[in-house]
Amino acid sequence: MPVAKKKNTVKKNNTLKLKFDTSWSYDPAPESKSAATINKQYDLFINGEWQKPVSKKYFNTINPATEEKLSEVADANAADVDKAVKAAKNAYEKVWKKMPAKERAKYVFRIARIIQERARELAIIETLDGGKPIKESRDFDIPTAANHFFYYAGWADKLEYAFPNRKTEPLGVAGQIIPWNFPLLMAAWKIAPAIATGNTVVLKSAETTPLTSLKLAEIIQEADLPPGVVNIITGAGSTGAAIVNHPDVNKIAFTGSTDVGKIIQRAIAGTDKKATLELGGKAANIIFEDAPIDQAVEGVINGIFFNQGHVCCAGSRLYVQESVAKEVIRKLKDRLESLIVGDPMDKNTDIGAINSKSQLDIIHKYIGIGKKEGAEMYESSCRLPGKGFFCRPTLFTNVAQSNRIAQEEIFGPVLAILTFRTEDEVIEKANNSPYGLSAGVWTDKGSKIFNMTKRMRAGVVWANTFNKFDPTSPFGGYKESGFGREGGLHGLLPYLNLQNI
Ligand code: NAI
Ligand code: MG
Repeated sequence: MPVAKKKNTVKKNNTLKLKFDTSWSYDPAPESKSAATINKQYDLFINGEWQKPVSKKYFNTINPATEEKLSEVADANAADVDKAVKAAKNAYEKVWKKMPAKERAKYVFRIARIIQERARELAIIETLDGGKPIKESRDFDIPTAANHFFYYAGWADKLEYAFPNRKTEPLGVAGQIIPWNFPLLMAAWKIAPAIATGNTVVLKSAETTPLTSLKLAEIIQEADLPPGVVNIITGAGSTGAAIVNHPDVNKIAFTGSTDVGKIIQRAIAGTDKKATLELGGKAANIIFEDAPIDQAVEGVINGIFFNQGHVCCAGSRLYVQESVAKEVIRKLKDRLESLIVGDPMDKNTDIGAINSKSQLDIIHKYIGIGKKEGAEMYESSCRLPGKGFFCRPTLFTNVAQSNRIAQEEIFGPVLAILTFRTEDEVIEKANNSPYGLSAGVWTDKGSKIFNMTKRMRAGVVWANTFNKFDPTSPFGGYKESGFGREGGLHGLLPYLNLQNI
């Protein structure tokens, strides 16, 4: 409930003095930490059990909102990766590929159910470890992760209908490397289609957000999955590289930076490893003058400030038609002021903590670049907590197409606003990017939507909405945003060999 900051006072002569204070704030509504158990230390989940790392090394994971240590996790080296890959290969040959598909499906279904049962605990841990607002982990990340397992459980025994007149075969061992922005959801995107189609998995989580994938390992144990079908390990870039370079890994699935995507592509060139790479983005969100303006403004806010802008498909470039630019910018500034920035565990919070100090430094660097390039900066006047990594939601106007803040991925709550006059002009500008992951179009005209979706070089184009996800819908990029699709029927393909029958 909103409460007035100042109390009305009754004066001595009994006249009531009313203070009309317009600065309302919300009472804190913190989620409790007590529903989540975090161990002091985590080992590696290999062959269905917790194994001490051969490396004997551990590293800390902190809460980016408080800078407090949450736990320490094993730092897997090449020998640990080898153990995990051997376990996965053994499970593939001896158990998983031989199991009738409808039996495999039951395990995948069971994982989905346990994620739902433990949703509250998972949401709390996701927020503590990564800094995203609890309302987002609770309402988006965890339910969508469960939905991916449900969805792919359904496909497991129906592959002959997905690919009629083709024989399908799993590939073997999938090496999967995920980032820190949607830790459990990315694990679900990768593991669910892989095991539903009969592959086994070695998954490495990101170094700043390992905890929900370790919780997923507990869930996989609880679901009684045969040992070695899913192995979950922790470590940094060198652990990821050891997975990529292991000769018994048949497929690499990677989500992360374009730079690492290129390293992976070079590493697997000349091998018969298959790969899907989901890399960076610089999505154009386009508002035409005939759009429902308030709805579009809300969509732009959701598109870039959702999850602190730590989203590869974030709508970080706004193109607004000149005739409505003034109105849209004014409304965006007003809305920026009303966003609640702060404690991610508070159920009212819209923008939580930036995931790490190094990511906050990258964002500050780009804000500096934007100012130097001559764009005009506007940031919310909100107060930031004294501890932790926080950034005010920020927008830039007077941005030129060639500015670095309009070309490069910032991965933070920073919006670059550009204007346009005609449809052809905006299509050219929107496509003038090394990336092509997603885009948004706001207009009243269906014909305009079809024209735009046809001509925009982006894997996903949202119309009159933004950042909508569903397990049934494929997701992936063009150009430097990577290749391959995850989600939907298309998401089965990277895990299968198809043969004509
Ligand atoms: P990153 O690409 O370095 O990390 C992603 C994952 O790859 C992590 O699990 C990491 O341990 C692993 N990794 C790192 N080096 C590797 C290597 N040589 N071989 C195999 N695996 C390796 O991303 P980082 O440094 O965390 O973020 C840097 C920038 O990348 C961000 O500022 C953002 O622009 C972009 N990014 C994009 C993401 C997306 O969803 N497309 C997700 C995370 C970051
Ligand atoms: Mg952490």
